[in-house]
Amino acid sequence: MDIKLHGAIGFDIGHSTVKISCFADGVKHDIIFPSVATPAFTISDENEQRRAIEETVVINGKPYFFGKTALIQSGLSGSTGLSESWIDTPEYEALMRGGLKKIRALDINPDECVIVMGLPTNLHSRQKAALKHMAAECTTGRVLVMPQSLAPYHGMMLDEVGNPSSRHSMESEAWAVVEVGYFTTDIMLMQAGGTWVEKAAGSSRGVALAADALMRSMSEKDVTVDLNEAEEALQTRTIKYFGENLDVSKEVELATSSIVADVLDTSKKLIEPHVRKLDGVIIAGGGAPLVFDEIKAKWPHAVLADNHRFSVSEGMRRYALVTLRLDAMSSFSR
Ligand SMILES: Nc1ncnc2c1ncn2[C@@H]1O[C@H](COP(=O)(O)OP(=O)(O)OP(=O)(O)O)[C@@H](O)[C@H]1O
Ligand SMILES: [Mg+2]
Repeated sequence: MDIKLHGAIGFDIGHSTVKISCFADGVKHDIIFPSVATPAFTISDENEQRRAIEETVVINGKPYFFGKTALIQSGLSGSTGLSESWIDTPEYEALMRGGLKKIRALDINPDECVIVMGLPTNLHSRQKAALKHMAAECTTGRVLVMPQSLAPYHGMMLDEVGNPSSRHSMESEAWAVVEVGYFTTDIMLMQAGGTWVEKAAGSSRGVALAADALMRSMSEKDVTVDLNEAEEALQTRTIKYFGENLDVSKEVELATSSIVADVLDTSKKLIEPHVRKLDGVIIAGGGAPLVFDEIKAKWPHAVLADNHRFSVSEGMRRYALVTLRLDAMSSFSR
């Protein structure tokens, strides 16, 4: 018997955090947790043990901690998947199963949902089948995979419940997306009528580049910080230093200029020939505020995506709602 699909999920496994946007029974939920997974081990503290059970999944017969528990217990410094073959690892599957576990904890059954997932634009065609295969092992929900830079575009063209937005038109407007993530910045161009311009799509480096630059410049000053601390300092502009907050604004500015230069360089190559004729450029992803002002100075029609860190999962959730509706219409006419 066919299970009736009734929920929509945007499931974005990023290199720094997993972001999930769900919509089921008329209610919307957002979930976020660190993209860290590590083989589980015995925890002696009883309170910690209880919390760890909620953040444990089993992969190939072996238990794994994921999310905050994995981050705290392993002492790992944040992101663990900075390689292109990340999706083939048990850690990636642990993040997928972990996200599904958190969705179930909200009383939403992912097996009855359309689940849209994303991949960096430059890996999409190569890894789409493998991601779908892995996801199918974890859930019987209907899984679709899209290039992640497409999602903020859908987030703008569709409203909260997946209807065409009253403020924009897919038919007549052309937009580019610059989506600044941790590992990659993804760029794409959508012509009027919803035609994706493949030649104008690609990826450059993400916020990790700036975090790395900050880490190195601090090390030259004999202050050792790990990648996680450096990533945080890009926002806070301070580093804890023997009980004081060290102001590192100057170092952050310098480190940030590396990603701005990289993003602008790749954006120029990919979309410069079209950019004047576009209705706008959406700057999305967690790192959007780091590059927004400089891109806006070059391209005045640049706009910051709403709720920029969730812009990928939210766009995918809205796209999942469209798919659900089309499904319902086709089963009605059968
Ligand atoms: N308000 C903010 N200002 C500046 N940087 C931010 C802000 N919010 C988040 N970030 C940073 O943006 C980066 C990218 O976050 P995001 O969640 O989009 O990455 P991701 O999806 O995990 O990575 P990827 O898409 O490359 O796999 C992170 O390093 C995060 O620390
Ligand atoms: Mg991302």
